Amino acid sequence: MSVFIPDLLAGKTTFVTGGSSGICLAIAERFAAHGARLMLLGRKQEKLDAAVAGIRAAGGTAESVSADVRDYAAMEAAFARCAELLGPVDILICGAAGNFPAPVNGMSANGFKAVVDIDLLGTFNTCRAAYPHLRKPGASVLSISANHAHQPYAFQSHVCAAKAGVDLLTKTLALEWGPDGIRANIIYPGPIDGTEGMRRLAPSEEARRAVIANTPVGRLGTGEDVANLALFLASEAASYITGSVFACDGGSGLMGARSFQAAFEQAPKER
Ligand code: COA
Repeated sequence: MSVFIPDLLAGKTTFVTGGSSGICLAIAERFAAHGARLMLLGRKQEKLDAAVAGIRAAGGTAESVSADVRDYAAMEAAFARCAELLGPVDILICGAAGNFPAPVNGMSANGFKAVVDIDLLGTFNTCRAAYPHLRKPGASVLSISANHAHQPYAFQSHVCAAKAGVDLLTKTLALEWGPDGIRANIIYPGPIDGTEGMRRLAPSEEARRAVIANTPVGRLGTGEDVANLALFLASEAASYITGSVFACDGGSGLMGARSFQAAFEQAPKER
């Protein structure tokens, strides 16, 4: 089902990291349909070009900038470009993330660092570089985290450590930036169909079926499911909500580590 309130986000500049594909592109497309003006950030210009073309073809406004969230100077330059093209940022979505299934003993220090740097340092860099450009009061930050922030999952030590950090960083922003009129909230998408995350964590039909079997509502989620929640949280309807965590996971988080266990059992044990 799709919620549609025309002009809900009319004229709102929305900056989305990881916005060229998957969940964050679904959010960007939905926001554009509700009148927001999108700036998509990702590492690969060709993916960004395709995403921007899709939003424009649907009648929306979108621009893109290619950068790595691990590079602070590049993030400062990206926000300067956004200011030039679209003005102050009303909504900031921190969605760039990395993942691969590997046990601690099958992961190098650099592998662990890569994911922590993209997810946690990347969220810090994004928010820190965004601050001078956020429209105050009224801006809203959404961090795309995961149930991993409080539930240990085998073969996901890097993601668990990173997402725990993302949650507390986001809640700290809610505290520090609340007086400026900036809200900051956290979304936990569950298993979402068609995403890079699902391709990596449940690459076979068998693993996919096991994930569905451990999702109480009995299906994978869609990008639109997460976009509906993001739309609410970024809108004025959520103006008294900050520092809070919202799962959009069909209840899979309630199943704890079981929800992805079968998928992880197929991951390589050594590297
Ligand atoms: N198992 C174990 N280690 C792995 C691995 C795997 N499947 N995939 C990558 N690594 C290690 C690499 O070996 C490297 O460590 P090393 O230098 O000691 O060999 C380290 O991770 C960094 O890999 P590299 O490919 O150079 O990093 P990158 O910065 O280009 O990519 C990743 C980052 C590894 C997180 C990559 O998976 C990625 O870009 N992901 C983005 C998309 C994504 O994951 N989306 C899903 C989000 S839910």
